[in-house]
Amino acid sequence: MKLLVTGGLGFIGSNFIRYWFNKHSRDTIINLDKVTYAADQRNLIGIEKYNYTFVKGDISNPKTVFTLSKNVDAIINFAAESHVDNSILNSSNFVKSNIIGVHNLLEAVRKYGTRFHQVSTDEVYGSLPLNSKLKFNEKSRYNPRNPYSATKAAADHLVNAYFNTYKLPVTISNCSNNYGPNQHPEKLIPKAIINTVREMPVPVYGSGLQIRDWIYVEDHCSALEQIIKNGIYGEIYLVSANGEKRNIDVIKSILKELNKSEKLINFVNDRPGHDVRYAIDANKIIRELGWKPRTKFEKGLRLTINHYTKNLDRYLKKVSI
Ligand SMILES: NC(=O)c1ccc[n+]([C@@H]2O[C@H](COP(=O)([O-])OP(=O)(O)OC[C@H]3O[C@@H](n4cnc5c(N)ncnc54)[C@H](O)[C@@H]3O)[C@@H](O)[C@H]2O)c1
Repeated sequence: MKLLVTGGLGFIGSNFIRYWFNKHSRDTIINLDKVTYAADQRNLIGIEKYNYTFVKGDISNPKTVFTLSKNVDAIINFAAESHVDNSILNSSNFVKSNIIGVHNLLEAVRKYGTRFHQVSTDEVYGSLPLNSKLKFNEKSRYNPRNPYSATKAAADHLVNAYFNTYKLPVTISNCSNNYGPNQHPEKLIPKAIINTVREMPVPVYGSGLQIRDWIYVEDHCSALEQIIKNGIYGEIYLVSANGEKRNIDVIKSILKELNKSEKLINFVNDRPGHDVRYAIDANKIIRELGWKPRTKFEKGLRLTINHYTKNLDRYLKKVSI
């Protein structure tokens, strides 16, 4: 296959490119990335041995998107502004990349009939109560509660509308929180690891009782592979590894694994409008596409800690606290 991967220098996109070449070494990948602060060429060191081309460019530029979408078998869109806190400060770039960018990709798909997969998030469904057993599934109502998730929801609606109107070969996945190598240290787990190693305060929003549903990034990549190969056009697939954990417990596991004191935990003011709990029912993709996650949280966390401690220098330059 010849794939156009957008946002492939970021966290999940770079893991996906590596995952794909490991499984399909003779395929071709074009990686279109704007190279924002979240991108890092070092995420893909050694990738040149495969049929890999990097193009610096912006999915919000229709000309770039149309030129690169011609003659590819599939487009997988990871390109997005992805940090909720940044969207609270200023959401202009979120609208541009996450909505207008997806609109451009869909227009190219409409013109060329290319297979398209939109990588989306469980955050489009909003927040669940802390003390409940409820989980989101494919029938849950969209209820985005911050500018980031609102732009991702808008993009999902565009994809669904283009399927309904033009019957295009499109799919969407809404995945829970990813962790693993290559994530920018603005995010909870890498930031906690890096600060713990440096014996610096580890910031925790509010009470730390918020629950996230964690999945190791490689398991997300294998779910995407299943959807790209066998997904039904027009369908949405929710992806998770049944990994609900309280933020405070994730931090405590990191401190324990690195043999550091819980005194490093530093409770800071909560994020405005902070969602309290995400939980995903992934039965549809398990049942219909035969996918299953393989990495237990404890093992994934150990692999993740190893990656950041081994590559500390690279991440130290990016960390703000
Ligand atoms: N990180 C998670 O836990 C998670 C969970 C579910 C879904 N997602 C989704 O997965 C996708 C990837 O997330 P991530 O965590 O890897 O993000 P990231 O911020 O690490 O990477 C995003 C990449 O997209 C690039 N990019 C941004 N705007 C662009 C544009 N206009 N044109 C081209 N490239 C652009 C950046 O340079 C960067 O390399 C996003 O769409 C996100 O919404 C993330």
